[in-house]
Order: sequence, then C-alpha cells, then structure tokens
Amino acid sequence: MKPIEIMKDVYWVGALDYNIRNFHGYSYTTHHGTTYNAYLIISERVALVDSVMGLFTEEMLSRISEVVDPTKIDYMISNHTEMDHSGATPEILKMVPDAKLVCTSKAVNELEKHYDDGWDIQTVKTGDEIDLGGKTLRFYEAPMLHWPESMFTYYVEKQLLLPNDAFGQHYATEQRFADEVDQNVLWREAEKYYANILWPLSRMVQKKIEEVVELGLPIKMIAPSHGLIWRKDPLQIVTRYLEWAKGERFQDKVIITWDTMWQSTTKLARAMAEGVQSEGLKPELRLIPHSDRYDIMADLLEARGVLIGSSTMHNNVLPNVASVLSDIELLKPVGKKCAAFGSYGWGGGAVKKIQESMEKGKMDIVMDPFTVKWVPNEEELEQAFTFGKEFARKVK
Ligand code: FEO
Repeated sequence: MKPIEIMKDVYWVGALDYNIRNFHGYSYTTHHGTTYNAYLIISERVALVDSVMGLFTEEMLSRISEVVDPTKIDYMISNHTEMDHSGATPEILKMVPDAKLVCTSKAVNELEKHYDDGWDIQTVKTGDEIDLGGKTLRFYEAPMLHWPESMFTYYVEKQLLLPNDAFGQHYATEQRFADEVDQNVLWREAEKYYANILWPLSRMVQKKIEEVVELGLPIKMIAPSHGLIWRKDPLQIVTRYLEWAKGERFQDKVIITWDTMWQSTTKLARAMAEGVQSEGLKPELRLIPHSDRYDIMADLLEARGVLIGSSTMHNNVLPNVASVLSDIELLKPVGKKCAAFGSYGWGGGAVKKIQESMEKGKMDIVMDPFTVKWVPNEEELEQAFTFGKEFARKVK
C-alpha cells in the first residue's frame, strides 16, 4: 500500500474504509465510508501523528514501510484516544518500545484504560513543543473537540495543522485533498459530521476556534483524521465551523419532518409545505421512516426552521419520530426555529411530546402547535397552509 506525500517529508499513511456504513455502533451512518488518517513526519527524528483503527494496522504499517522502517519511529503522537485513531498504537509501541507516546495529561488515564500497556508517556500542554531535529511540533489542547483529552498538533515550519477529528468528514476516496473531490459530497459530509458530532459542543467549538485564530498561526494546510485534507484555502472549513457554531449560516429552506399512521399528518405536512413555499422559502419534506435520522440532523444545520409532526399513539409520538426527538435532545440545535404539528384520535399527546423535546434541545418554538382530530377537512387543510405560511414569515 502506497503512502501519499502531502507536503515535503510529511506522508499520509492512514487507511481507507470503503465498507463501513454505521459508525460508533450505529450512531452515525457513513454512506461514503470513511478514512482513518495517520501522518508520518520525517526529520532527524520521526513522528507518527495518530494511528488507525486496529483492524487496519497492517494497511498503515505497509504504507509507513514504504517511507521508513517503522522501528525508526521516535514519537507516537496521540491527538485523541478514541479507537479509530489509537487502535494501531499498541502495535507501533510494541515494535518500538523506546518510542515516546505523546498526549495530553487527560489522555494518559484514557489510553491506559483502553490498552493498559505501561508505555513511556510524555504529556504536553498548549504551547509545548517537540524538536524533531530542526523541525518543530507544537501542541494545542482542544478539550471537547470532541473529547476532554483532544489536542491539535501543529507542524511549525510547514504551517500544517493536524486537528484530529475537527474539520473532518466521513468520505473514503482514492483522492486525499478536498479540492480533488465532488464538492457537494465533501460539504455534505462535513455538514453531517458537524451536526452529528459537534453541534452540542458548539459553544466550545467557537471558543477554541476564536482562541486559535487570535494566536494568528499561519496555516497552509489542515489535515484532519477523517476524510479529505484542506489544501486550497484551508481556512474555509474553519470559517464554516464558526458559522455553524454561531448558528449564523442559513439556506432559504424549511425542513418538514414527520411520521403518520393513517396519512392525516402527511396531509398536514403537504399543506404546510405549500404555505412555506408561498412565502418564497423552499420546503424540504422528510418522511421519517423513509429518511436517515442522521441525515435529517444534517439537513437541520443550515435550515431556517423545522416543523416536526406525528400522529398520536398511546398519548405519545410514533416510534420513528421518537428516534428523531432523541437526536434533537442529544444534539441540541440551540435556537433553531421550530413548531410542532400532528393528529390524534381519542386523546392527544404527540405535539406535547414534540414540544418537550424541542425545549430540551433548546430550540426556539415560534408558534403554538397545530393539531387536528382524525382526518383534516378542507377548512383544516387551509389552516395548515396558513400555519406553514406564518411559520415561514417568522423564520425568514
Ligand atoms: Fe472521536 Fe474519529 O474519533
């Protein structure tokens, strides 16, 4: 397997996982697979920045071996403990027992608890440097981007930022650079990554990025631990993260997402979509059982607002809607404008449950819920149209 030299004496030696479709134990769908990016830095001393998922150890070692004997590695840098970036680390440290494992102090216990290996560990904090022999690696702690022990590695002379999970995308291709691939897929995967991993941490994302921007570090390239490397205009992804973190980036669209038992809620959704459209916003309809819940969260990231609907069953929402509501509560789309709608037979309950989840997700409920008993008649469909129109006016 071939390494790829991403800049002089810096090699991508990671692994391509074309087949994975569910990441983190079915908590994230990866329609385009993923990559585990590890970077080999050659100087008088040799550093490997992050490793790969354990299953891909041989692939990584074969790429490293094309550049250097793996036993020549002096530093194993661990930016993040999670196993997709540390799974092959024990094998490296078994091959090179004298190599130093470099990580933050918070990572020590986590790495030991994962692998229990009694390694020679050097802890670093923000501003600490390692001299590779005229070449310098500097470290920046990045707590909650996205674990407490996360850090960024910065290769000073090359102006190369290695931020691990930050700025990544789950996208496996033979290309290594963001400017070489389908831009729609690239940005969609970056958006989905932010929405499903970093959205609840937005306040910390904003703070950390502003801190790094204030440092005025020159950055020529950003090489994350998943997906493509940002080579042309690398700060575009940093700017995009700041916009997402602040909730300041919108497309003129409203997401309408729901499930239905006997089509009454679907009729409401369609009437509301026409109302939204009449105000010049684009309604995007997502019938939940026909959609991917993690894609729905990505859809929400840049939407001006969202309408969530359900029929009532057992005084609650339908089970598919409950899964989306649990994502709303977990990922916290703070400030996203929203409203609930639905239908019921004998007793209500669905819209109340939807509103409770919206509140837990710290969303901005801009209208009282719209609900009908049994099947909506012509007058109620007209009211649903007006509801959609009013909602669009409030979120424009
Ligand atoms: Fe937090 Fe890519 O692992």
